[in-house]
Amino acid sequence: MSSQSASAAHVSELKSKIEQGQAKVAVIGLGYVGLPLALLYSDGGFPVTGFDIDQRKVSTLNAGGSYIFRITVPEIERARNQGFTATSEYAQLESMDAVIICVPTPLNEYHEPDLSYITGTAQSIAPHLQPGQLVILESTTYPGTTEEVLVPILEKGNRFGLKAARGGDSDGKTFFVAFSPEREDPGNQTVARRDIPKVVGGVNPQASELAGALYGAIFNRTVQVSSPAAAEMTKLLENIYRCVNIALVNELKLLCLRMNLDIWEVIEAASTKPFGFHPFYPGPGLGGHCIPVDPFYLSWKAKEWDFRTRFIELAGEINSNMPYHVMDSVARALNQHKKALNGSKVLVLGVAYKKDIDDLRESPALTIIELLQKEGALVSYNDPYFPAVGRGRKYDLQMKCSPLNDLGQYDCVLIVTDHSDYDYERIVRESKLVVDTRNATRGIKSPKIVPC
Ligand SMILES: NC(=O)c1ccc[n+]([C@@H]2O[C@H](COP(=O)([O-])OP(=O)(O)OC[C@H]3O[C@@H](n4cnc5c(N)ncnc54)[C@H](O)[C@@H]3O)[C@@H](O)[C@H]2O)c1
Repeated sequence: MSSQSASAAHVSELKSKIEQGQAKVAVIGLGYVGLPLALLYSDGGFPVTGFDIDQRKVSTLNAGGSYIFRITVPEIERARNQGFTATSEYAQLESMDAVIICVPTPLNEYHEPDLSYITGTAQSIAPHLQPGQLVILESTTYPGTTEEVLVPILEKGNRFGLKAARGGDSDGKTFFVAFSPEREDPGNQTVARRDIPKVVGGVNPQASELAGALYGAIFNRTVQVSSPAAAEMTKLLENIYRCVNIALVNELKLLCLRMNLDIWEVIEAASTKPFGFHPFYPGPGLGGHCIPVDPFYLSWKAKEWDFRTRFIELAGEINSNMPYHVMDSVARALNQHKKALNGSKVLVLGVAYKKDIDDLRESPALTIIELLQKEGALVSYNDPYFPAVGRGRKYDLQMKCSPLNDLGQYDCVLIVTDHSDYDYERIVRESKLVVDTRNATRGIKSPKIVPC
């Protein structure tokens, strides 16, 4: 058999293994994206191994525990009964058929893409790469990362001189590479994960076919695009669309506040238009791993092409100014009560970056707490998802969650995250002053409420 037909045989063998749910799937990076994905494949009957460099996560999973609030212990147990295990030993990759990479892609201190997790992962995979393996990157990143960063490391570091299959060209000395963005919306209960179509772009048609089959086994719809870069750009377009539209309503909210208009009422009314309008909502600032971060991956890459992404820069400026607006609003509201921010007791309600989730990353609450503290406010916080807030990459708060039993002791209660568990009627009734950044107190009539 020629090496070309050997490869075609390998592709069809791997495809049928996938279709029968027998392909061994490795998920690298067992965080908010990777762990649910691993569980989804396990639920689909696939033999799944999770890889993470964080020993605490590996041990927790292997002991049947969970470290993500919305993933329950019975779900982990069910996966373990299906054969799911977690490990830090990359050598175990050698027996895998497909490898899905879900590691972080943050920004560095200069607001530039930090690809060190992707490059570190690629360097760890490379020595164990096998002919015919399928490698898929899911981490959000700029167009070009898969082919310009991931593939060269895998090609350089493997033991067999393997190359990524390109064009129609694939022989027994190739592996397959694709990019498929993660589109999860944490806390969103309205769409099941398998109902979110999966966009896939392979380096060559066989990579697209195999990646399409792998996702098609779990997700109800896959959408093929022409290249990994097109798939990378698709994800960025989605997040930039959100970022820019949120900035737009944040700016219009500031104008509405000045004009004594209620932006929430206006958005609700505009949303009745059956076409051409999609509602976005203002807030205390952007949070999470995606929307505050991903657009800057593109603006950084655009500079290589001598191009300025002005919408992204402007949206970033408006959104990152929102925590300062919140601090000013608290100061003004206290002033109305003849109090200074300096020395006032402020309770921040909700520190998660959005409601009903246990994720603090890039949360505007952290910036707001720091800004209030800098002005001399005595800040406490409450969040049912966080008994304590310690040190992160960009903050060091060392605070413990305060109970909600004596709200009258605070000069101001500041609603930053509108968790569903809060009883807003009671909060307004028992507080002296409530500054509301989320319209959480909608429908409650009280002079104590200050919209922000
Ligand atoms: N969280 C979301 O809602 C979301 C949604 C869509 C896309 N994304 C994207 O998905 C990617 C992952 O995000 P996340 O939220 O799951 O991050 P996360 O921080 O929750 O998890 C990443 C995991 O990767 C592990 N890791 C880091 N380097 C590793 C290595 N070399 N080998 C093995 N494991 C390693 C970390 O220990 C961690 O457990 C990011 O690119 C993010 O932008 C996230």
